Amino acid sequence: MIVKPSAPLEQLPSDLDCDRLPQHVAVIMDGNGRWAKERGLPRIMGHRRGVDTLKDLLRCCKDWGIGALTVYAFSTENWGRPMEEVQFLMTLFEQVLRRELAEMIAEKVRIRFVGNLTALPASLQREIARSMEDTQENKEVQFTVATNYGGRQEIVQACRAIAHKVKTGELEADAIDEALFERHLYTHELSSPDLLIRTSGEMRISNFLLWQMAYAEIYVTSIGWPDFDREAFHQALLDYQKRDRRFGKVR
Ligand code: FPP
Repeated sequence: MIVKPSAPLEQLPSDLDCDRLPQHVAVIMDGNGRWAKERGLPRIMGHRRGVDTLKDLLRCCKDWGIGALTVYAFSTENWGRPMEEVQFLMTLFEQVLRRELAEMIAEKVRIRFVGNLTALPASLQREIARSMEDTQENKEVQFTVATNYGGRQEIVQACRAIAHKVKTGELEADAIDEALFERHLYTHELSSPDLLIRTSGEMRISNFLLWQMAYAEIYVTSIGWPDFDREAFHQALLDYQKRDRRFGKVR
């Protein structure tokens, strides 16, 4: 359940309707590598810069009254990248968590990690556990980081958990419906995203939140993630507010 942030909305651009903001925004933060390459920098510099972009977007969600932000930080497929880049990302996640935890607590942000977390380095798992525990009472923004996450993997683990309950007699097979299935997903405490933003131009969802995206509005921008600033987010929200969301019905 998402609680609307209590922050004053003065900073919301005047052409946005505060009653028609998405409650939950999901982001595929793509284009860090290309951003770096275009500047003659190593790919990892794009990821470093991407952290600043993410911090600003999180703050912007709080300022503008958007209660949930979910980002795709590392997919189950990303292990196939060069080992140095994978190691860099794991270390970066850990450093960022350690560095930003106090501010997240102060800003009343609740952080969650979703994905197969047991495969992550032990020191990162400890930081993740600490950050989730220390922010669990926070209600301003629900910030979810998909790490070692895959939409198919999430669905398979939900099926496995449900099958186990049926096998042990805890659950009747006929009791399985959409609501029950959703309760077995990593994101069971959140509503589905209203808006999916993908930076850097690719028109695909890349195994991100496959179940939850059923009725998300999709916005793709050619801007690379490190350059996705408040104005770019503003444009995404303006576009979202033009959409006619019918959820398969007619008006
Ligand atoms: C995709 O760009 C980006 C990633 C795989 C990593 C994104 C991670 C961050 C911005 C750090 C977030 C940190 C925390 C703690 C949540 P890409 O490398 O696929 O870019 P390319 O398509 O141009 O190669």
